[in-house]
Amino acid sequence: MKKIGIMTSGGDAPGMNAAIRAVARRAMSFGIEVYGINYGYAGLVAGDIFKMERSTVGDIINRGGTILYSARYPEFAQEEGQLKGIEQLKKFGIDALVVIGGDGSYHGALRLTEHGYNAVGLPGTIDNDIPYTDFTIGFDTAVNTVVESIDKIRDTAASHERTFVVEVMGRGAGDIALWAGVAGGADEIIVPEREFNVEQVAKNIQNLRARGKKHTIVVLAEGVMHADEFMNQLKQYGDFDARSTVLGHVQRGGSPSARDRVLASKMGAYAVDLLNEGKGGIAIGMEANELTYHNMTDLFSSKHKADLSLYDINKTLAK
Ligand code: F6P
Repeated sequence: MKKIGIMTSGGDAPGMNAAIRAVARRAMSFGIEVYGINYGYAGLVAGDIFKMERSTVGDIINRGGTILYSARYPEFAQEEGQLKGIEQLKKFGIDALVVIGGDGSYHGALRLTEHGYNAVGLPGTIDNDIPYTDFTIGFDTAVNTVVESIDKIRDTAASHERTFVVEVMGRGAGDIALWAGVAGGADEIIVPEREFNVEQVAKNIQNLRARGKKHTIVVLAEGVMHADEFMNQLKQYGDFDARSTVLGHVQRGGSPSARDRVLASKMGAYAVDLLNEGKGGIAIGMEANELTYHNMTDLFSSKHKADLSLYDINKTLAK
């Protein structure tokens, strides 16, 4: 392997830059030339590709977002798009690729491998919704951002004796809500993986109030419903002086946490090592603190499982 390409694809996540740096520097340490592909698969097809130097990835380990930009590009699911991408890989002489992104990005990586260009996927998404890895790059930072926000919201909630419904990201997964809910001392955590009943939530809030706790924090995963809708439903069962807050894209930004930087560095270096061994069509994970890899096809046929023990624990802590 003489030349590898790196791209970030799908939603950006803090730690992607640390992963880019790790891939680039590890590859360069083996004398492999490294090419950055801007805007994910869209940039690959358009030939938006440039040679990276050691300095290209200097001073980025601490930066959120991705210096390679990112894009969602569903057109790459079609063979026409893939062939155009391959033309560009040939033109630049790139033999193998590292794709940092979510599972949507892995489909493209598998197609490229099938066409003879080994590609390795790194899980980069704040959602933590990728199978065969305990954590994705960006999740820890996003959880910390949410916890910081909950702490601030708590000040107002306590001062005004209000109930706050805080909507957090995660698409269809409850991981951010579960982790940030426990770490932020939420009274209720509502996630798509568990049934809920708004009337029961209202009763729980009333019980808390009867016992003297007059403010409440409900952490709601976006995959369940919007915060406004939840708040309005809640209001049908009592006056909790409720407010809703949607944290939104603030969760995607910011300097990556140390954990995300380390995870990205380990995974990035490992991706290069695996490509060097001639492997492709695989995705890297961190399972029980060990670096692992699995065939992408296995990932497509399995589903990520959120740690629902957090949900159960929180039921007993939020009293
Ligand atoms: O996948 C990451 C994520 O931030 C999800 O949590 C969220 O549902 C989605 O992306 C938002 O996507 P966009 O930035 O394209 O609106």
